[in-house]
Amino acid sequence: MNRVATRTRTRAAKVATVGSLRFEQRGPGARRASQAKCRAIAKRPGKVEPVEGTSPATRAPGDELGHQEKISEQALRNLEVEVLSEGEGVKALGRFNDALEGLAGRKDWDRALEPVWAEMAYNLESFNPVFTACMLKVQCTIGSSDYVSRDACLQNLIQPLAGEYGLHERDPLGKTHRQLFSDWYTSVTRKPLSSILERSEGPDAELAPHAGRLLFAQMMRDVSTGGGRGDDPVEQASYALGYNLAVEYLADPEKTWLLESFRRLSEGLGWELEGRRLDWEFLEVHALGEKEHADIGHRAVALFVPSSHEAAVRQAMEDHDRDFAVYYNHLASVLE
Ligand SMILES: [Fe+2]
Ligand SMILES: [Fe+2]
Repeated sequence: MNRVATRTRTRAAKVATVGSLRFEQRGPGARRASQAKCRAIAKRPGKVEPVEGTSPATRAPGDELGHQEKISEQALRNLEVEVLSEGEGVKALGRFNDALEGLAGRKDWDRALEPVWAEMAYNLESFNPVFTACMLKVQCTIGSSDYVSRDACLQNLIQPLAGEYGLHERDPLGKTHRQLFSDWYTSVTRKPLSSILERSEGPDAELAPHAGRLLFAQMMRDVSTGGGRGDDPVEQASYALGYNLAVEYLADPEKTWLLESFRRLSEGLGWELEGRRLDWEFLEVHALGEKEHADIGHRAVALFVPSSHEAAVRQAMEDHDRDFAVYYNHLASVLE
């Protein structure tokens, strides 16, 4: 069996247990302080549990909008496994990570990575407006959805988005994820991130992130139109919540494998031996935190989406899986 097939099979198995991945499985070498911070974030109590007094079961009497039966736990888990764990996005991630680790045998690894850095800088930031658009879709069901369910759902949705900007409950203001990305880039390349950004901005830029721009356009089109499923604001929000869950669910293997691949690349290319002080915090925070985000996204769907909108959630997951796979297959082709 060739290398890509082996990796794909191994990784498919990992994703089958994506709900129980533990940071301890991801190998040694992580910085102790960062690990402690990650653990503290992941173990905060009550982050993915229903907020007391705000579950649909305690909605105000007479609130008829809240009486719609919500999507079942089993139906939602089935969708996650069928559409996402077994989808094209995971396969594309495996292909990309194989190609990334293949750079260990190349003298021009630094130059080969430049278009990938440009794509990642754009793509990883582009999820923030997508998260915001998903929130807006739920907020805009005011008057059409249950007051209590809507409120509890939004309280879940905002937490990963706030984390992007360094805000975590009970913690002092931290670095934004853009700052962490920049620190990571500089620790690997010994150059400021501006050296990539300056060559990637504008329509005709040398390192224009075409794949990231396409994915961003597709994500915003789909979320802002509710997948084109009609005018019902609640169905559009159900689609947006399914989309948000798909993004967070795939982000778990995405970031976990990226950390693994960069560690292997570091060993293969002897970065530490060259005296590079690698700053993995961006990767470590995400490798640990995305599982929690997926749980929060799952919870947000369960709190809000009526069972009659299961097809909208499925469509959202399929739409994101398809476009995410195109993005990562492109990144793989750049390195292969
Ligand atoms: Fe992030
Ligand atoms: Fe996330």
